[in-house]
Amino acid sequence: MGISGASGVIYGIRLLEVLKKLGYETHLVMTPAAKVTIAAETDYSSDSVEKLGSKVYRINDIAADISSGSYQMHGMILIPCSMHTLGALASGIADNLMLRAAEVTLKERRPLIVVPRETPLSLIHLENMVRVSRAGAIVVPAMPAFYERPKSIDDIVNHLVGKVLDLLQIEHNLFKRWEGMSADK
Ligand SMILES: Cc1cc2nc3c(=O)[nH]c(=O)nc-3n(C[C@H](O)[C@H](O)[C@H](O)COP(=O)(O)O)c2cc1C
Repeated sequence: MGISGASGVIYGIRLLEVLKKLGYETHLVMTPAAKVTIAAETDYSSDSVEKLGSKVYRINDIAADISSGSYQMHGMILIPCSMHTLGALASGIADNLMLRAAEVTLKERRPLIVVPRETPLSLIHLENMVRVSRAGAIVVPAMPAFYERPKSIDDIVNHLVGKVLDLLQIEHNLFKRWEGMSADK
């Protein structure tokens, strides 16, 4: 899992919490900007977020196990993914461990889920999403859905995190699934 410095670091934190609760092993790498955003947007400390990962890496640890395709992992999630990290990934730039692990995930044809967050989007942002999508990434923009009638920010966060878990075929009960509208609505 990679957490970069886009708004919405709570998505990454919630995903770590849920995966920990479900008993999954997570390998976490955060950018320096992610740590700034954690301080700006949440009551968590970067240290407490790092404690949620089974294994934590320094962003410059380019020799870490996850930088090699020979290291077996199920996939990677960049959540949230800043436009900077998206652009670097789309351009094949891998000058930190998060970007290297993400490009390895793509080249090994393992699932890479990218949760970009920015608005509005420039043509460069849009084209970068197309590029990573063509390369095999699944782009899951941090866009709330309202058909579930969210009552809180937690509901909105859980919905997005649940969508990510669905893509990884991990069972969860983070949101109620749409079952159509009853006739009396
Ligand atoms: C509070 C805060 C919110 C930010 N929100 C976004 C955002 O939503 N999307 C984005 O692309 N960058 C956002 N940024 C800017 C990135 O953090 C910045 O471009 C940084 O260089 C990204 O580096 P990284 O990709 O290595 O994490 C935000 C920065 C701060 C401090």
